[in-house]
Amino acid sequence: MGYENATFPEGSVFLVTGGAGFIGSNLCEALLKRGYKTRCLDDLSTGKQANVDMFLDDPNYEFIRGDIKDLDVCLKACEGVDYVLNQAAWGSVPRSIEAPLFYCANNVMGTLNMMEAARRSGVKKFVYASSSSVYGDEPNLPKREGREGNLLSPYAVTKRCDEEWGAQYARHYGLDTYGLRYFNVFGRRQDPNGPYAAVIPKFIKQLLKGEVPTIHGDGRQSRDFTYVENVIEANFKACLAGREAAGEAYNVAYGGREYLLDVYYGLTAALGLDVEPNFGPERAGDIKHSAADISKAREKLGYDPDWSFQRGIAAAIEWYRENL
Ligand SMILES: NC(=O)c1ccc[n+]([C@@H]2O[C@H](COP(=O)([O-])OP(=O)(O)OC[C@H]3O[C@@H](n4cnc5c(N)ncnc54)[C@H](O)[C@@H]3O)[C@@H](O)[C@H]2O)c1
Repeated sequence: MGYENATFPEGSVFLVTGGAGFIGSNLCEALLKRGYKTRCLDDLSTGKQANVDMFLDDPNYEFIRGDIKDLDVCLKACEGVDYVLNQAAWGSVPRSIEAPLFYCANNVMGTLNMMEAARRSGVKKFVYASSSSVYGDEPNLPKREGREGNLLSPYAVTKRCDEEWGAQYARHYGLDTYGLRYFNVFGRRQDPNGPYAAVIPKFIKQLLKGEVPTIHGDGRQSRDFTYVENVIEANFKACLAGREAAGEAYNVAYGGREYLLDVYYGLTAALGLDVEPNFGPERAGDIKHSAADISKAREKLGYDPDWSFQRGIAAAIEWYRENL
């Protein structure tokens, strides 16, 4: 279970793009704890300097401030690297509807530059962040790889493109690529601020500050909220997977399903509060229900998540209590 036994050859070098962000900084932390050389490439566009500063004392950590839209930057960052964990991208469905050109340049060309740089540099494994948004309007639950619907946002298009390029780089250029379709990740260091913040950190922060959170829609939408430790496991297991599993994308979730209203009342109960939420309009491009079938990742990557939603949310609440 989990990733305790996931070990890499001595001297392995990892490059985490987007390493100053939420998921990337958690990946850096997990790698550094295990003593691996970890290079972080980030342009700090949505990431935080604090997520870099916390590792600067570690001799195994190196930070490059740079943009994956620049191929030369990607080539330099890939020098001597064995494993790339490509997390750099802009998230948020609503923001992507406002800025389609930027999203294509950043999330598609950026990742394509990274694949090209990884190939030229002889990187062993290229693991990259995709998203459950690629399921679009496909109505069946749970979501299963190979059964995708019409895409509902420019953000989803970028992630779908990344997967197609990942397949091409495995097919034609001998780069072992693994796409990980993250389902609503949450946990320590996820940014609670701003109009595009994810719902869990935003609600926790608002409740802790005595504000009243707003639920978009009726709150009966459901998600497979995934604790960040499970995402770390999936990245490690993908790095250790065989070539026969390359060129494909995998659901990364816990395999559960929580209704937003239940999450909300679970948070208020855990925080000892009695606050009714406000309700606002539904957001364009949002999926109503999302829950993952994780059997493909289990079978082909050996992914075996051990952080349930309940266990993860308890850990997240504790972290925000201490760090907000
Ligand atoms: N958080 C989730 O629930 C979730 C769900 C599905 C997919 N994802 C994907 O996971 C990845 C990480 O997401 P996150 O939640 O940690 O977001 P985040 O915004 O916290 O981290 C992304 C990081 O990438 C950096 N970045 C963005 N564009 C860059 C560029 N051109 N060059 C260099 N660095 C760049 C940002 O500065 C930031 O530090 C993203 O690819 C995202 O699309 C996240």
